[in-house]
Formats: sequence, C-alpha cells, structure tokens
Amino acid sequence: MLLADFIRNGIARLEPLYPSPEARGLVLMLCEERLGVRSYTHIIEPQTPVPADREADLLQDLERLCQGEPIQYVLGVTEFCGRRFAVGPGVLIPRPETELLVAEGVRTLQEMDLPRAPRVLDLCTGSGCIAWSIALDVRDAEVLGVDLSETALDYARSQFNAGAPVFLQANVLDTEQDFPYGPFDLIISNPPYVRESERAQMRRNVLQYEPEMALFVPDDDPLRFYRAVARWAQRVLRSDGVGIVEINEALGPETAALFRSAGLNNVQIHRDFFEKERFIRFTR
Ligand SMILES: C[S@@+](CC[C@H](N)C(=O)[O-])C[C@H]1O[C@@H](n2cnc3c(N)ncnc32)[C@H](O)[C@@H]1O
Repeated sequence: MLLADFIRNGIARLEPLYPSPEARGLVLMLCEERLGVRSYTHIIEPQTPVPADREADLLQDLERLCQGEPIQYVLGVTEFCGRRFAVGPGVLIPRPETELLVAEGVRTLQEMDLPRAPRVLDLCTGSGCIAWSIALDVRDAEVLGVDLSETALDYARSQFNAGAPVFLQANVLDTEQDFPYGPFDLIISNPPYVRESERAQMRRNVLQYEPEMALFVPDDDPLRFYRAVARWAQRVLRSDGVGIVEINEALGPETAALFRSAGLNNVQIHRDFFEKERFIRFTR
C-alpha cells in the first residue's frame, strides 16, 4: 500500500465525520506519529510505501478514528504545555485552554518567590496534566494531585519519572474528610462543570468516549465542585495563598459570587484567547 493511497482513502473515510481540513489533519497526524513520516512526504515522494509490518496496525487505527474515537486515545498521547501526556479511555483529554491555568499558577508561584518549596494542591487532577506541568516548571514545587477515578490516577502516576507529584485518591466533594497534607500556597482545579443540559451542544465523540464523571454536573447544582474548592481553600490554603479554578464560561458571575460569599478575597474572572470567561483567581 502506498502512503499517498492510505492518506487519500483515510481522508475520504473520515469526511462524513469531520470537516475536510480536520479529516486531513487527523490522517496526517496518524501517519506522522505511527510511521515517523513528514506531513508532506506523500506529496514529494509519491512512491513511498507503508511498511508492510505497519499496515495492519495503521488500518486498525484508522478504523478507530472512523468510529469517532478521539485521535488522542487512538495514539495514546496528547500534548499539553509543550509536553506529551499519556491518555486513554477513562481519562479526560487535557484541553488547550487549561494551559492558561498552568501559566497563571506558575506565574503566581514565581511571584510569591517563597524562601521554601512552594506547596500546590491540584483538585480533580485527571491525567495529572496541571500537577505535572507545575511540578516540572516550578523548581522544588511539592505538588499533590487528587482525583476519585482510579483509572485517571493510574495515568497521572505514570506520566514522567523525575520530580514526581504525589497522587491521591479522594472524593473532592467530601470536604470534611481527614486530610493531613496541608497547608498549601496554591490550590488549582479544573473540576467537572458541564451541565447535563449542555450535552446537546457537545461533540458526539466527546460524549461517546470521554468519561462522564470528568465532565458533567447536575443542572440543579452546577457549582457543587466550586463550593467544595472554596471549602478546601478555607481549610488548607495558607493565609497568603492563591486559588485558581477553570470555570464554565456560562456561569462566570455566579461562580465568582460563590467564592466571594465563601469569604474569599480578590475574586477575579479571567478571559481566554476567545474572550470567554475561562478561570477565576482568588486569594484567601
Ligand atoms: C474536567 S476533568 C479535569 C482533569 C484534568 N485536571 C485536566 O484539566 O485535564 C475533572 C476530573 O475530576 C475528577 N472527578 C470527578 N468527580 C470527582 C470527585 N467527586 N472527587 C475527585 N475527583 C473527581 C474526574 O475523574 C476528572 O479526572
């Protein structure tokens, strides 16, 4: 099988699911990752074959894409904050907008310029993308990541070797449990915040493949995780500590009001590159 034929056929098979440029991007990404070829190899060297011993796996990958499975699960990796994170079914695929939280967290810790190791708590850590990025970007940072999902924690623990954060299984909503790990200088969190009623606006492959518990909250209590984060802040955030939480863009003012009424200070909504209200920063 020629590489060019695989690419042409792959794009045609994905076009019923994705707009053409996206279908093309997915097939090229598959070839780059699996075969190590460049995105233009099939154009400048049209006779390039797919190695015979790779053909079956490549066709199987394409089949998974044709079922609507996210490419990150098919490849088993995604990029976040310039690093490659392992992902797969059962763990949320980190989103680019969450990189804003990491940037704010890193900036905040650098500004604190503490005379000791900064201590960070990442609630609802998932793949550990936030926890690891901070641990690797802020020298000496001691990071604790918490999640309820054993699958997510398996991924989080296996990402990298050096400078590892500690990952712990706990229910973030159980705010009164024994928790002898504080105090922290920074609490950071990207909790579930999509209302059940927002399902209709979401892409089919997200609904079909990504873990429900990572995404959804009930319509009658959409801010439950923020109430919990506020309580954790009261319990384990240092008096000069900072909180940073990703938010549902449709619930910014309500979420900010929740933190204010919980007694937290300097509550500010920050927007993303699309001018959407994306995260809230507060102090103790
Ligand atoms: C939106 S995902 C965020 C994952 C990761 N921090 C990121 O930004 O990609 C929310 C995470 O919350 C976890 N979660 C859901 N309910 C939880 C609970 N009650 N206690 C702790 N973690 C929970 C899910 O397993 C999921 O990993």
